[in-house]
Amino acid sequence: MELPEKKYLPNIKQVIGVISGKGGVGKSTIAVLLAQALANDGKNVGILDADITGPSIPRLLGIETMKAESDGNRLFPILNEDGIAILSINLFNEAEDSPVIWRGPLLGKAIEQFWGDAEWGSLDYLIIDFPPGTSDISLTAFQTIPLSGVVVVTTPQEYVSMIVRKSINMAGLLNTPVLGVVENMKSLVCPRCGEIISLFDDHGDSADKRLGVPVLASLPWHKEVVTAKSIHWNALPETIRKDALRMAKETELALASVQKANKA
Ligand SMILES: Nc1ncnc2c1ncn2[C@@H]1O[C@H](COP(=O)(O)OP(=O)(O)OP(=O)(O)O)[C@@H](O)[C@H]1O
Ligand SMILES: [Mg+2]
Repeated sequence: MELPEKKYLPNIKQVIGVISGKGGVGKSTIAVLLAQALANDGKNVGILDADITGPSIPRLLGIETMKAESDGNRLFPILNEDGIAILSINLFNEAEDSPVIWRGPLLGKAIEQFWGDAEWGSLDYLIIDFPPGTSDISLTAFQTIPLSGVVVVTTPQEYVSMIVRKSINMAGLLNTPVLGVVENMKSLVCPRCGEIISLFDDHGDSADKRLGVPVLASLPWHKEVVTAKSIHWNALPETIRKDALRMAKETELALASVQKANKA
């Protein structure tokens, strides 16, 4: 496939896309946890909300009332409490619930601007929260942003569906390494007896066997994630922080191994 030229930004070392086959499997939640884990491990981190029509990053981070600035040429990301730089279309909208009713080309322009016209500063990692599926806007993000790799978020009932394989195949077609899968909401731990309860029928399968890509992490369903209005690293239970830090480490290792293989 003939691909357009991508603009490389030398100040951004690694760019990680968080994608999924279906909507609502926890991409944005995982993108936030990954960014927070990396930031709290001492890295310079940014989040680019590429979900232009369904942006949820500002609310997830509790910065939905803040406004990002632009001088007409450059966009200035917001810095949150963890020092994470953030751009989302909702940080430019007058009201959080204003719909974005643009046609494809304009949506693509927003992605291009968030990438190429933004003052991200020096980042170790820029995390891209993708919209669900393999839509036009996902394609634009893949084609505009030089991704170092993607993390695929799934819930166990998705292993057997072709939808998640579609998104993995899309990355392959667009020459982007798939770093691995994050299994989300696979189980929950009973708060009373500690029993681990599987939430989905995984048809006796595992993501790595089914999808042929490694599992980077498995995040249980946590009541705190659903009930919290927004996710704040210091307010998260220790167990979620541990899982997120492990997921970040595995992602870094997967990136290093992909890049070593590319050099060889
Ligand atoms: N590990 C988890 N435990 C409990 N709830 C979770 C977990 N992960 C995600 N959720 C909840 O699932 C819902 C969907 O999550 P999220 O918005 O992150 O998904 P998404 O894949 O980004 O959705 P979309 O496709 O609409 O962008 C949210 O209510 C979120 O709080
Ligand atoms: Mg989302």
